[in-house]
Amino acid sequence: MSKTWFITGAGSGIGAGIAKAALIAGDCVVATARNLDKARNALRDVTGENLAFVQLDVTGESQTKAAVERAVDQFGRIDVAVNNAGYAVMGNFEELPTTDIEQQFATNFWGVAYVMRAVLPVMRKQRSGHIFNISSVAGAVGFKHCSAYGAAKFALEGLSLAVANEVGQFGIKITVVEPGFFRADLLAPQSVRWGKNTIEDYASEGSTEALWSPYHGKQHGDPVNLGEALVKIAGMQNPPKLFAAGSDALAAIIPAIEERLNVTRAFEALSKSTDGSF
Ligand SMILES: NC(=O)c1ccc[n+]([C@@H]2O[C@H](COP(=O)([O-])OP(=O)(O)OC[C@H]3O[C@@H](n4cnc5c(N)ncnc54)[C@H](OP(=O)(O)O)[C@@H]3O)[C@@H](O)[C@H]2O)c1
Repeated sequence: MSKTWFITGAGSGIGAGIAKAALIAGDCVVATARNLDKARNALRDVTGENLAFVQLDVTGESQTKAAVERAVDQFGRIDVAVNNAGYAVMGNFEELPTTDIEQQFATNFWGVAYVMRAVLPVMRKQRSGHIFNISSVAGAVGFKHCSAYGAAKFALEGLSLAVANEVGQFGIKITVVEPGFFRADLLAPQSVRWGKNTIEDYASEGSTEALWSPYHGKQHGDPVNLGEALVKIAGMQNPPKLFAAGSDALAAIIPAIEERLNVTRAFEALSKSTDGSF
């Protein structure tokens, strides 16, 4: 049976790739975006009656509720919700303006929370549904220059894993997706917010922008391939709670998990000593 997808930030990159893959698989898609002209252009090759566009800036909770209602009005249900909208604030933590970090959370964490709070009642009523929350390798591994971005993604992962345990009883599944580098606009000048060198002690390392911007346009991952993987996962009876996407993601995440296990085991005796008389 065909599914209805609700996708945020569907006007470019990974969001557009997921929308294309779902449409090619024969599903219906509600493609949401801040800029509908951009979204229509990105999805012009797959346009048809299975595709609807709804304007949505995920930083507004009431706008998010209204967008979900419009999606349900259009297709009657939401089977798969993809929290994809996001951008990156990059720089040394001490050098980032506090407002940049707060705004990063407004989109990358609160935007996800608003969509979840809007779609969960729909999915509970249906007694089925699947939420994909697009995190990042930076949501599993602490990378230099990714303090704000990574903190919001780690928060998204914590939210997802906890809520999954609350809503599983209603037939609702949640999968955190941790992409490696995919060819999208995340590091494009119009999207990323670079921290500036404002503290002399960090100056010798050069600018964050000079270090990271060369990756833009050269990422290996193809967003449509990622979309195809999510279409497969959405069809699984027992989908994974976490999905690392891409060989670069695996290469970073597997050693980080092993290191965490080793550190936890290495301090097992000290850990047990904190039990006190119990
Ligand atoms: N590409 C990668 O290598 C990579 C790796 C790991 C994780 N990710 C994650 O993948 C997701 C998609 O990013 P991408 O790489 O595909 O970058 P992208 O091409 O820049 O796409 C991001 C999309 O999010 C939208 N967006 C940003 N803020 C929004 C807001 N407040 N409300 C609604 N939409 C908003 C953007 O819309 P506008 O066009 O209006 O700006 C854009 O369409 C993000 O969550 C990102 O953190 C990407």
